Amino acid sequence: DLGTAIDLALFGALGDLAQRKLFPALFHLEREGLLDPSTRLLGLARQELDVDAFKARVEKSLKTYVKAEELDREVLGRFMARLDFLQLDFTQPEGYAAIREWRQGAEQPMVVYLSVGAKIYGDICRNLDASGSLDASSRVVVEKPIGYDLESSAEVNDAIGSVFPESSIYRIDHYLGKETVQNLIALRFANPLFGTQWNQNHISHVEITVAEKVGIEGRWGYFDEAGQLRDMVQNHLLQLVCLIAMDPPANLDADAIRDEKVKVLKALKPFTDEMLGRDVVRGQYIGGTIDGQTVPGYLDEEGANTSSHTETFVAMKTEVANWRWAGVPFYIRTGKRMPAKMSQIVIHFRQQPHYIFDPDQRDLAANKLVIRLQPEEGIALEVLTKDSGLDKGMRLRRGPLHLDFNSAFPKARIPDAYERLLLEVMKGQQYLFVRRDEVEHAWQWCDSLIEAWNDRAEAPRRYPAGSWGPVASIAMITQDGRSWYEDY
Ligand code: BG6
Repeated sequence: DLGTAIDLALFGALGDLAQRKLFPALFHLEREGLLDPSTRLLGLARQELDVDAFKARVEKSLKTYVKAEELDREVLGRFMARLDFLQLDFTQPEGYAAIREWRQGAEQPMVVYLSVGAKIYGDICRNLDASGSLDASSRVVVEKPIGYDLESSAEVNDAIGSVFPESSIYRIDHYLGKETVQNLIALRFANPLFGTQWNQNHISHVEITVAEKVGIEGRWGYFDEAGQLRDMVQNHLLQLVCLIAMDPPANLDADAIRDEKVKVLKALKPFTDEMLGRDVVRGQYIGGTIDGQTVPGYLDEEGANTSSHTETFVAMKTEVANWRWAGVPFYIRTGKRMPAKMSQIVIHFRQQPHYIFDPDQRDLAANKLVIRLQPEEGIALEVLTKDSGLDKGMRLRRGPLHLDFNSAFPKARIPDAYERLLLEVMKGQQYLFVRRDEVEHAWQWCDSLIEAWNDRAEAPRRYPAGSWGPVASIAMITQDGRSWYEDY
């Protein structure tokens, strides 16, 4: 699993993502011996700063985001020695010659990481190209959001694509780097037990919850234009839907996997007006309490405009309209300012066609597979057994066969998603990155939903911070005689 040597040019090196996630991830790779000795890291930012001041900034971030006992002096020294810094006005071609000079004589591929707004991806790519800094082995890594809708995402993709071929473009969806998300692939395609059951004959419905405790974290400007559908569903949740619903790929090659994911996106049922009223709930948080702390409502956040109708919560019932999944609802919900940070997928299997136990326990009698992404990563299969005790007769009891990664692999540190993703970029493997057509099909589906919302012009439903969302999101699932899974 070794990374290979690269020259990493990181645009936006003083930004929040770089400091909070990317440098800590690179440091962990260093610690694990996964950075090739000749790998070099070049930070690029608009700010005037000398190399030592830049290194001091990185060190400060590492001290904040890496555990003290993991911040080994010797490893830190080795890591710091790889760093260099260049001040650059990203949109102006002039300074880019310095990147070419930095690359002079280098044999390893250059990886350009764009940790900046998508609006300037095009400028940066063109300037890199025009300055002669790139060659056929160069790769580019881009962050979401890629555009705001199908049209704007096509513009961004065209701009990147005019310089880099698709096989050199690594579009990040950091959910694909999460350990348990990758485990979905292992679970589904390595276990014959699940392989044979994974369809509408055996699964009654699927539930995905991605609940966040945080609000918008001072990002009003970005978030108010986006909303939870664009911020979370268009990318992270649809990727989860794809991994759950896709057909087995012929092999683990990037395109084999991505071809299957695209088929799922194409099969997502478009929303009709009737479904919109019944199967979709938009919410916006008002003030409330989380962990005993009072938190402000969305419209009272810093910089807020008080008439915003942007949603901070969305719940929906959707369907993958194909042979495998027809008639199986996918209930999806995600929101900010919920009582816990909790992401999980629950696969609800169908009940036995013929039931022979206590009639009053009938509702109990179905298996569930619970795949927990966070906080404690793990997989639990809920099975029914006989309740123990002489007086219990054939009473049933529901309990989990549980794989808790922390206790099953006590020595293993669960790596952050960015560590895995950066490692894959170094190896030049794209299967954990999003292909252009995936982004576009996901936008197409979201766009139709947003358009329909705009036509209705309804205000989102309010929910207090610290609650599980608007009551309507509970009614949405109970109208089908089901409820959100609550065993966390
Ligand atoms: C980001 C969103 O993509 O994902 C944020 O822009 C969100 O709004 C974050 O908070 C959630 O990621 P995670 O890994 O904390 O679940």
